[in-house]
Amino acid sequence: MFIRRAFASKFRTQLLINNQWVNSSTGKTFQTINPATEEVITEVQYGSPADIDTAVNAARAAFDGPWRKYTAVQRANLLYKLADLIGKHKEELAQLESLDNGKPISDAKAADLPMVENVYRYYAGYADKVFGKTIPMNGPFFTYTRLEPKGVAGQIIPWNFPLAMQAWKLAPALAAGCTVVLKPAEQTPLSALRVGELIVEAGFPAGVVNIVPGHGDTGAALAVHPNVDKVAFTGSTEVGLEIMRNSGINGLRRVTLELGGKSPNIILDDADMDMAIAQSQFGLFFNQGQCCIAGSRVFVQEKIYDEFVKLSAQCSTGRKLGNPLDPATTQGPQVDEAQMNKILHYIELGKKEGAKLLSGGKRWGNKGYFVEPTVFADVTDNMSIAKEEIFGPVMSILKFKTIDEVIERANNSIYGLGAGVVTKDLEKSIKIAHSLRTGTVYVNCYDVFTESTPFGGYKQSGVGRELGEDGIMNYLESKTVVVKTSNDTLP
Ligand code: NAI
Ligand code: MG
Repeated sequence: MFIRRAFASKFRTQLLINNQWVNSSTGKTFQTINPATEEVITEVQYGSPADIDTAVNAARAAFDGPWRKYTAVQRANLLYKLADLIGKHKEELAQLESLDNGKPISDAKAADLPMVENVYRYYAGYADKVFGKTIPMNGPFFTYTRLEPKGVAGQIIPWNFPLAMQAWKLAPALAAGCTVVLKPAEQTPLSALRVGELIVEAGFPAGVVNIVPGHGDTGAALAVHPNVDKVAFTGSTEVGLEIMRNSGINGLRRVTLELGGKSPNIILDDADMDMAIAQSQFGLFFNQGQCCIAGSRVFVQEKIYDEFVKLSAQCSTGRKLGNPLDPATTQGPQVDEAQMNKILHYIELGKKEGAKLLSGGKRWGNKGYFVEPTVFADVTDNMSIAKEEIFGPVMSILKFKTIDEVIERANNSIYGLGAGVVTKDLEKSIKIAHSLRTGTVYVNCYDVFTESTPFGGYKQSGVGRELGEDGIMNYLESKTVVVKTSNDTLP
């Protein structure tokens, strides 16, 4: 309550278009809800297809106009300024993130906010460090390539890491010289809009960043707009596939997608047990299990299986559920009622299909969308909880005998986002890491993200990589310039 009052005057709830805060053209709004209390935090303006059109046109005008004249160093300086402002307001932003999303404030402060600031700084530094080549040609020509911004980027982000997903999308696009229309998730629009205020304060020219909150239909309008050159999406595989299918409607847009996962986490029998337990608990329960890369299929070698199962169940009950704004809380609510119900449905399926429920298994309390940390053992590959993305605090433990067997079973998934291996044996870890068809493999660690390391998936986990050099290349086109020279120019 105190927090709600303290924030009330500060919530930004309008659309940011051309550096102006405006209402939706339809007058429609939507509610954003505190998932810990089920109370409405505030009403937010609901962007319509007409608003998307206005925002994309503003982004186009900025791209064709003032923004193209900014040098890379000038763009970098604006991004540094934004990073400074985010650093200055990190306490407030962490609270806002915790309020709207339900994540523990201690996680928002320790994980989300530092990552966000680092991503803006990293791409600020990158802006003037991408360049083309000079290419020898057979003839009297001087030939070179330039890396040029793709144009207007339409970016659609999810609710699990609202500020971080905004940074992963905005920072490389702006460093590359693109302009942006960004649609935050309907569950968590508030922190993105607050960053919108900081973007204006930092001095970005009008139209360079436009933020249009709304539901899926708002995102769908953005994804097919003819003036959008590039679409970047993070969210469900279902919507990702739709965006990919629609990328050729009204023109042809470049697409990067970061989608679902069912990541295997492989514990070999030589593993340090304490490390294996800590790694697998963090790899699954972090962020209430709402991580695309969550290590949700924990494969344990048979010799240590029984002990691992026992300790996992004990350890999961040690999590402290409660008010996410309390610094002692280690597990908050799921983001909304739909996600909570989806998770509870999978828990019922797990029981029905014969997995052994060791801990948790129910909603926690009757207010707020909390789910008990849940551990299933004796899970087999064909069970729904071993195949489908649950996106919640539900660990499935599976038994294996040999390394070749576990590699095959781990790869037997429509997804290929991440994986983990815990072992003291370097040879084995490398063999497994190189055999898995996933975008990331963590050895003796999990969920280690940094701004410099590419992130993305094989198979139905996505297209392309974000962060690192790949992240900025997503927003650049290569142009070849061939200049005829006289015959007496040296080749
Ligand atoms: P979603 O994919 O529907 O939503 C993600 C974003 O896409 C939101 O901003 C949403 O408004 C927008 N969106 C929805 N429909 C769209 C459309 N047709 N065209 C363009 N944009 C659209 O995901 P949702 O419904 O929030 O969660 C469903 C499941 O997706 C989760 O249970 C989880 O399994 C997975 N998911 C994966 C995430 C990841 O990090 N890869 C993040 C969020 C969800
Ligand atoms: Mg959806």
